[in-house]
Amino acid sequence: MRLDYQSMENLWMPFTSNRDFKSDPRIIARAEGVYLYTPEGSAIIDASSGLFCCAAGHSRPEIAEAVHRQLAKLAYTAPFQMGHELSFELASQLVELTPEGMNRVFFVNSGSESIDTAIKIALAYHYVRGEGQRQRLVSRERAYHGVNIGGTSLSGMVKNRQAFGLGMSGVAHIRHTWLAENRYHRDQPADGAHLADDLERIVHNVGPDSIAACFVEPIAGSTGCLVPPVGYLERLREICDKYGILLVFDEVICGFGRTGEPFGSQTFGVTPDIMTLAKALTNAAQPMGAIVVGQHVYDTIVDAAPERAIELFHGYTYSGHPAACAAGLATIKIFRDEQLFERGKSLAGYFQESIFSLQNYDIVTDVRGYGMIAGVDFAPGDVPGSVGMSIQKKLFHSGLHVKSTGDAIIVAPPLISTEAHIDEMLTKLRQVLDSVSAN
Ligand SMILES: Cc1ncc(COP(=O)(O)O)c(C=O)c1O
Repeated sequence: MRLDYQSMENLWMPFTSNRDFKSDPRIIARAEGVYLYTPEGSAIIDASSGLFCCAAGHSRPEIAEAVHRQLAKLAYTAPFQMGHELSFELASQLVELTPEGMNRVFFVNSGSESIDTAIKIALAYHYVRGEGQRQRLVSRERAYHGVNIGGTSLSGMVKNRQAFGLGMSGVAHIRHTWLAENRYHRDQPADGAHLADDLERIVHNVGPDSIAACFVEPIAGSTGCLVPPVGYLERLREICDKYGILLVFDEVICGFGRTGEPFGSQTFGVTPDIMTLAKALTNAAQPMGAIVVGQHVYDTIVDAAPERAIELFHGYTYSGHPAACAAGLATIKIFRDEQLFERGKSLAGYFQESIFSLQNYDIVTDVRGYGMIAGVDFAPGDVPGSVGMSIQKKLFHSGLHVKSTGDAIIVAPPLISTEAHIDEMLTKLRQVLDSVSAN
C-alpha cells in the first residue's frame, strides 16, 4: 500500500504536526528487535523504545503468540462482578516486582487512565476515612501525567494544558528539579533536595489537612529526563508522612527496569503509597496500565464498605482485558528469562558515557541521564520546539528514531540493546548534530 497526502487526510494524528507530517510522512511497516523498518525496507534503529515502552524490543513472537492463544480461547469477559484467571495471575506476578507492601493491583488501559484512577483512589481513601475535605492535589512544573482531565490538570507542560480550560480545581504545582548549576550532571544531582520543601510551603498555604496526594515521576521523563536530586524523593516522603498526604509515583516511564531496578521506587529507595504503571507492562504489545497501591490504601477503602457492597465505584470495560493480561504475563516472563533489568543495568554505564560525549557540541545546552534514559537539550530557535522537531526528523531520515520534546530529545533504548546498538545510535546522532552544527 502506498500512501499519498489524499489517503492520509482522514486520520487526525495524536501529538503530531498533521500538516507537516502528511507532506513528509514517516511510516513504519514492521519492527523487530531494536529496529523499525519503513515500507521500502530501510532500517531505523529505535533509540526511544517506541515511546519508552518496548523494553524487550519490538514484535516479540512470545507475546504475539500468547495474545493470539488468549484471543482464541477467551477474547473478553466482563471485569465487573466476574473475572478471569490471567488477571489474578498477572497481579500476583506484578507484585513480585513491586516494593514490599505495594501489593494490590487495579488494571486500566493506559498510563493516562492509571493517573486518573490514582487520583480517584486517593480521593476515595481520604473520603472513607472521614477526611473528604482532602481534595487538593500537588504536582510539579514540567510534569507529564498523561492526557485525561486529571492528568492534564496535574500537567506541568504548558502546551499540554494551555488549550484545555481550567481542568480540576485545587491542583498546586511545586517547582521542577532542573537547576542551571546541575547542567551536564550524570546520575542524581547533588543539589536540589531543598526543592521538595515546596510541598511544605503549599501545606502551609492551604492547610495541612486539605491535600489528598502528591504526584511525581521519580525521573520526570517526557519533559526531557530530570533526575531527582539526592535526597529529594526522601524529603517528599517525609513531608507526605508528616501531613498525611499520599505519595504517588508515576512509574509509567521509570518502571520495568528503565532505572536499573524494576521500579524507580526501588532504585531511589523510596516507597510511595500508590504507583502508576503502563507502557513496558505489556512491552506495548497491548494497551494496558495498572495502579499498584500499598495494602493500607486497599484495606482502608475496602474495609470501609459494608459486606457485599462494591467498594470502589470505578473501572473500565477493558480493565484487565484478557489479551492485555496475556501480553503482560508473556512480557514479565521475557523480563525474567532474559534478565532484562540486569542487562539494562549493566549497559547503563556505557550508554550514559556515550550520551554524555554529546556535551561537546555547541548546540547541546545540557545532558542529563540515569540508567537507560537520558535527555539532551538543544539551543532553541525562534519558535520553541522547532529545533527539537527538526532534529528528530533529520534523525529519522538518517535511520534513527528518537523522541523529541520541545527542544530536547529523550533517549531510552530497549533493554535488549547491545553496546554495538548504542554505538550505532550515537554515530547517527553525531552525524546529524555535525550537519546541524555545520549550517
Ligand atoms: C509519566 C507518564 N505518565 C503517564 C503517561 C500517559 O501514558 P499513556 O500515553 O499510555 O496514556 C505517560 C506517557 O508518556 C508518562 O510518561
